[in-house]
Amino acid sequence: MRLSGKVAVITGAAGGIGRAVAQRFVSEGAKVVLSDNDFEGLRSVGEEFEEETCCCIPGDVTQKQHNEQLAKEAIDKFGALDIFVANAGVEGRVSSILDSSEEEFERLMSINVKGPWLGVKSVIPAMLERNGGSIIITSSIAGVMGAPSLAPYSMSKHAVIGLMKSAAKEFGSQNIRVNTVNPGFINTRMMRSIEQGMNPEKPSDAKDAMTQRVPMQRYGEPSDVASLILFLASDESRFITGANYLLDGGSRA
Ligand SMILES: NC(=O)c1ccc[n+]([C@@H]2O[C@H](COP(=O)([O-])OP(=O)(O)OC[C@H]3O[C@@H](n4cnc5c(N)ncnc54)[C@H](O)[C@@H]3O)[C@@H](O)[C@H]2O)c1
Repeated sequence: MRLSGKVAVITGAAGGIGRAVAQRFVSEGAKVVLSDNDFEGLRSVGEEFEEETCCCIPGDVTQKQHNEQLAKEAIDKFGALDIFVANAGVEGRVSSILDSSEEEFERLMSINVKGPWLGVKSVIPAMLERNGGSIIITSSIAGVMGAPSLAPYSMSKHAVIGLMKSAAKEFGSQNIRVNTVNPGFINTRMMRSIEQGMNPEKPSDAKDAMTQRVPMQRYGEPSDVASLILFLASDESRFITGANYLLDGGSRA
């Protein structure tokens, strides 16, 4: 029970990685507040857990009020807030920079950058009350290298590393740790969408081409990401802050 007595807020909990994180956290003894703007998907994730361990709050991470509600719910229902996983995100349309629109750029920045920033702002007061906490932001391998045809996505995932590093420096003395995880290709809806965008005629060819670029010759699974997030959430990583963690099967080696 590596998270016994801990309370966590997880955004994007209806998605592939968020769901795996929620499952792992609950199995390690945490109580969880789950958020997503996919109301039906969130309801289905919530049904996996007992009411005493889980609370689902549907909403949009781009809204200040939703982020504040997540922090409030953790305190009101479970009496604390120790861990925040800012995981909700979107990939955007696969297209050249030359064809991408301002609307698409603003949508990605709002969900992938403003969302985690609002989340961090909302949870830190509760963590200060608790004399510490752990924040994990889901960046990407595209946050440390360029992603052709996904420039706004790559920019947004670089941006949250700036948020992570700044918050780690600002709140380190108060025992609030902040790190990013930077997954490579992970088997979720998001990769299906990117494969479809890369090769609409034959998405499986796009998947084969991307798999060949991974030294371990496979995509990661959501549970692989959940294992790393669990480590960063738990006290085992108590001297780790301000760092980004690649898990990409060796792609960046
Ligand atoms: N799958 C990958 O290969 C991969 C690689 C690197 C990073 N990531 C990142 O991991 C995170 C999780 O992605 P995933 O692969 O599980 O994809 P996913 O699409 O399965 O999950 C993303 C979740 O975020 C939710 N969401 C989107 N916009 C939202 C909003 N405005 N408010 C609230 N919720 C919102 C979606 O409804 C969805 O449930 C994302 O931040 C993604 O960028 C994924």
